[in-house]
Amino acid sequence: MVRTRPRPPLAPPSRWGRLTVSSRSLVLFLPGGAMFEAAEQRLVEAGQPEVLRFWPQLSDTERKTLATTVQQQEPGELRAHCEAAIRARTASQTPLARLMEPLPQEVVGSVSRTEADVLRRWQERGFQEISKGHVAVLLLAGGQGTRLGVPYPKGMYDVGLPSGKTLYQIQAERIRKMKQLAEERLGGKCTLPWYIMTSEFTLEPTEKFFAKHQYFGLPQSDVVMFEQRMLPAVGFDGKIILEGKGRIAMAPDGNGGLYRALTDNKILEDMDLRGVRVVHVYCVDNILVKLADPVFIGFCVERGADCGAKVVGKAYPTEPVGVVCRVNGIYQVVEYSEVSQETVERRNPDGQLTFNAGNICNHFFTVEFLKSVTEEFEPKLKPHVAVKKIPYVDEEGNCVKPEKPNGIKMEKFVFDVFQFSKKFAVFDVLREDEFSPLKNAESAVAKDTPSTARRALLWQHYRWAVRAGAHFLDHNNSRIPVLTQLREVDDPPAICEISPLISCEGEDLEERLKDREFHPPLLLID
Ligand code: UTP
Repeated sequence: MVRTRPRPPLAPPSRWGRLTVSSRSLVLFLPGGAMFEAAEQRLVEAGQPEVLRFWPQLSDTERKTLATTVQQQEPGELRAHCEAAIRARTASQTPLARLMEPLPQEVVGSVSRTEADVLRRWQERGFQEISKGHVAVLLLAGGQGTRLGVPYPKGMYDVGLPSGKTLYQIQAERIRKMKQLAEERLGGKCTLPWYIMTSEFTLEPTEKFFAKHQYFGLPQSDVVMFEQRMLPAVGFDGKIILEGKGRIAMAPDGNGGLYRALTDNKILEDMDLRGVRVVHVYCVDNILVKLADPVFIGFCVERGADCGAKVVGKAYPTEPVGVVCRVNGIYQVVEYSEVSQETVERRNPDGQLTFNAGNICNHFFTVEFLKSVTEEFEPKLKPHVAVKKIPYVDEEGNCVKPEKPNGIKMEKFVFDVFQFSKKFAVFDVLREDEFSPLKNAESAVAKDTPSTARRALLWQHYRWAVRAGAHFLDHNNSRIPVLTQLREVDDPPAICEISPLISCEGEDLEERLKDREFHPPLLLID
């Protein structure tokens, strides 16, 4: 397996986190006894010798795998990680409610409350940045997607659109179109590189998927995949959990693992070589995400922001999204679970929720800001604790699926760097145009499922078609009445899907659709 690299590698071509290929090979070539001793020494130093308790029962391959995993962990860091997990679980929460303040209006820009000519100015500015090759998009795709529960990366998921396109394909096509629009507007060729952060779970299948689909028409050299680190899960007794006799339960270090992964893989150096100055960072699961949105980029650049976040108004007070706000004067995302019901439901005199800026994991960073984070601030990021049910082996070596939470996973979050921003900007956008995440499997709950994601996209395309002058006919050739209300529980009155290669945001559709009648489904596929 070869990592996607545009030019001679700047980093060791490794999918083993910090471990270089050469040191990993060393482990593999050690004789059995020496391999045990090397692993034991590290684990004793880390206070975790029990990890090797099934060693005599392991096959050669299992021993090599376990020794390799152990070799990846610095003993001091491993000890600190396990101790921090226990401390964090028992630590009392800071009472946030008292310290929380809504965003000051001067940092917020809003799509719905801004004059059309100002929006056009921001868009023009964004297109200029893209056409000069100053912009990159960066996808966070290292998550395990446990709630969706499919055995492959979430980006490979097909939510059931008429075209059968996956999330990765939709995103790739939006990038192609955005690049094309920038080139057409400002003349000349440009590049819009796509960095994809993966994890041990997602790198290999993602690489194969992209190769199988010829990078969805993107230049291969503009797609750069890299891998985040993994961390062991820790039991409530502070001991590392084994999920098999020879396998440590490992999980990616959270989407805030981005910052260490940027360093590990020399991604910022790669951006410098390409002339990238600003980066649009986003999550894999939002089917409506606008890639390298020129309006957002232009807004942030014009404001001189080093860090920006898109937000949407909350759908209901207890919606499980974090809110962007200030805590003690510092920009931060506060999860709804971190504050009381009273705070979540607090309203302004005009009836609007006081803390209404829902974070949609859609961020703007300058490369300079990312450098300051990786060089200076990353160690200050506090990991978050997730108490989870983690399958483990009992003392007899039987695999057990616990019914109650039994362990701790530690994750850093991508938005925790807002506190280091010198000039922060927030961009308030419309949920129906920009946010519908795929989190849960169909049967689990009716929220954020494949069906809600599919419908959000189909409603959007239906609105675009109607706005462009299309009419839909039923089987009696009567016009189907137009509905404008977004209802995620139902399909739109007429199914219509428009390829991002034809229209990214509903633009340029009149020529194809105006005053024309169609029997649904209408597929505008390139
Ligand atoms: P989520 O927090 O929704 O996690 O990730 P998830 O892994 O997709 O799903 P669950 O919680 O296991 O069901 C939000 C975004 O952050 C990325 C995900 O891929 C997704 O784009 N992510 C998450 C990472 O890149 N790395 C991680 O370690 C965790």
